[in-house]
Amino acid sequence: MRQALVAGNWKMHGSRAMARALAQGVVSGATELDSVEIVLLPPFVLIPQVAGELADSAVVLGAQNVAAAAEGAYTGEVSAAMLREFGCRYALVGHSERRQLFGETDDLIARRAAAALREDLRPVICVGETQREREAGETEAVIRRQLDEVLKVLPRESVGQVVLAYEPVWAIGTGRTASPEQAQAVHATIRAHLRTACGALADRVRIVYGGSVKPDKAAELFAMADVDGGLIGGASLRADDFLAICQCAARGGG
Ligand code: PGA
Repeated sequence: MRQALVAGNWKMHGSRAMARALAQGVVSGATELDSVEIVLLPPFVLIPQVAGELADSAVVLGAQNVAAAAEGAYTGEVSAAMLREFGCRYALVGHSERRQLFGETDDLIARRAAAALREDLRPVICVGETQREREAGETEAVIRRQLDEVLKVLPRESVGQVVLAYEPVWAIGTGRTASPEQAQAVHATIRAHLRTACGALADRVRIVYGGSVKPDKAAELFAMADVDGGLIGGASLRADDFLAICQCAARGGG
């Protein structure tokens, strides 16, 4: 049985005051949700503050990216060891905004994921197709390519530590959620592909869905067999919406 996971990707939003209020709101609502792992992914500079708010709670901290290198002349990057020292347990890797706006390649994303695992930071690796790729019938090929690059560099025994996030690019921030059937079809493809690559370990890997998940859409998505939770953008900026989504995962996910 896989424990459901719901992660809130704040993207580049927030301030100290907002972070305090949001983290406190999530912590107070999370006490009754122990069957779901709840992760907050604030911007780097807010990590220390959110870490303080999450201390003594079951809510887990993560970052929105992580360097591929351990240290050195990499201006603007933040290493896995630094994130661990500040209390992070997870790091998002390969978000489509990183791929599209900042030119991050499959290879770089794979190296970021490997660097995270070396420091015991669990990567949440995002994959997903664009609208054009879906219309051209390339969804499966695109996702296989993104996955294969990661599987090439990760030590096989650490694959169980990874979380995969299926985020169709056309659904992110657009209000166009994938239907439960569309999500399940891709999640099942991902799991089958993982099974071919690493056998029974594939059943331990959590595959979460992201892309315009709102409280009214979450239950039906999380009810699908291979949807193990969600990666939530816009709706994670309001504690009540985010907690409502976590409640759906507690009831139907995992
Ligand atoms: P959204 O973002 O929920 O606002 O669509 C999801 C994401 O980018 O992770």
